[in-house]
Amino acid sequence: HRTAVVIPAAGRGVRLGPGTPKALRTLSGTPILVHAVRAMARARTVSLVVVVAPPDGVVDVHTLLDEHLLAQTLEGVDLLVVPGGANRQESVRRGLAALPEDVRSVLVHDAARPLVPVDLVDAVAAAVRAGEVAVVPALPVPDTVKQVAPGERPGAPEPVVDTPERSRLRAVQTPQGFERETLLKAHEQQHDPAGTQGTHGPDDPGATDDAGLVERLGARVVVVPGHEEAFKVTRPLDLVLAEAVLARRRA
Ligand code: CTP
Ligand code: MG
Repeated sequence: HRTAVVIPAAGRGVRLGPGTPKALRTLSGTPILVHAVRAMARARTVSLVVVVAPPDGVVDVHTLLDEHLLAQTLEGVDLLVVPGGANRQESVRRGLAALPEDVRSVLVHDAARPLVPVDLVDAVAAAVRAGEVAVVPALPVPDTVKQVAPGERPGAPEPVVDTPERSRLRAVQTPQGFERETLLKAHEQQHDPAGTQGTHGPDDPGATDDAGLVERLGARVVVVPGHEEAFKVTRPLDLVLAEAVLARRRA
């Protein structure tokens, strides 16, 4: 029973500001992607890591991983690098297409969550191996969340439509874990090569979450407790937090 990890790392990181693609920027001297691959490869059950690289960066990413990853970290773990697509959903789909037949469970983990604790990875993988079809780590939401309608013009005040009960809301993280066939079916169902629905190119965000695609199949998706250190590096302030977490770990 092989468990594989797909790591989408093909995004530009627009919200982080101009510069190198997000996964290749460094945290305390080490690329974000290298932190993420290490964290996932350390998990007990993981035997294959598929990195989905920026389409023009496959060779560079391969070189980078070879330089940074000690053979020890990846002992018993195979590594593949494949080119990504125009949005996250398309990148994950390309990663899934590279999986060998004998993989039965799949974890999908954002490269942009480089500090995920290995215990969280193991907990998600264990829940899938115990028979869950789709497992999502998540945390309670600290802020009250409002649903709004579009304003009359960009920048105009947005009318509030609803205030969901906060205690029932969860902010989801990765790695999300899946029974392989279900995740493949979920992605195939959404994929539309003609572009008449679903993915349309760089401006269409596609699905931001793999479990959301599985929900649309009507399959059971469960939440397990997430971890604060599995936060996503999205905006510049997140880099400050990530450096602080690394400094605390070293102390
Ligand atoms: N991702 C990907 N392929 C894309 C877009 C995103 O593999 N075409 C990956 C990112 O590399 C990241 C993860 O999906 O690891 C989560 O996406 P996000 O945090 O939105 O990263 P970016 O899309 O790079 O950032 P931004 O939206 O700010 O541009
Ligand atoms: Mg994005």
